Amino acid sequence: MYSNQLKHICNNIDDTELLAQKFADAVKNTGCFVCLFGDVGAGKTAFSKFICKHLNVKEKVTSPSFVILNEYKSGDIPVYHFDLYRLENEGINTIINELDEYSEGKILTLVEWAEFSQNNIPFDRIDININYIDENKREFIFNAEGTKSTDILNRLKI
Ligand SMILES: Nc1ncnc2c1ncn2[C@@H]1O[C@H](COP(=O)(O)OP(=O)(O)O)[C@@H](O)[C@H]1O
Ligand SMILES: [Mg+2]
Repeated sequence: MYSNQLKHICNNIDDTELLAQKFADAVKNTGCFVCLFGDVGAGKTAFSKFICKHLNVKEKVTSPSFVILNEYKSGDIPVYHFDLYRLENEGINTIINELDEYSEGKILTLVEWAEFSQNNIPFDRIDININYIDENKREFIFNAEGTKSTDILNRLKI
């Protein structure tokens, strides 16, 4: 079945790592632009860390919530990890223009709190909604926009 939506329940953190590993495998030859949605504590950063681990990023991966952007160049492809939570309106507008540059080529861009800029992200991307179900259980909903991201989602066998 060819689809641009995929839903998956992770019963525990190990399931989330396995999902991240599969996602890393699906993007490592192409790169991808990813927006992560979900409440504080949903698992946006945890999922991002596992993706980096399975792209063989050697640096310590930390939450970019204070620094807005962390860059990792030591893995299979470059990873740009944004967290827009602390940005004010003016900063958002500046970042939006810059995000375009992070949407092309064989790089992985992960954006937490992209809802602040949702209407301004037109490019080919995968949106991932993470819903908290209980302490250890999360629902992941992937939506692909555009042909490149739809292909990636369809390579993601879960
Ligand atoms: N199945 C799961 N998937 C992701 N995180 C989980 C899961 N179960 C428990 N957690 C925990 O939930 C927390 C998620 O925090 P974090 O990734 O920082 O959230 P966010 O970045 O969305 O605010 C972590 O402490 C993580 O260990
Ligand atoms: Mg976070």
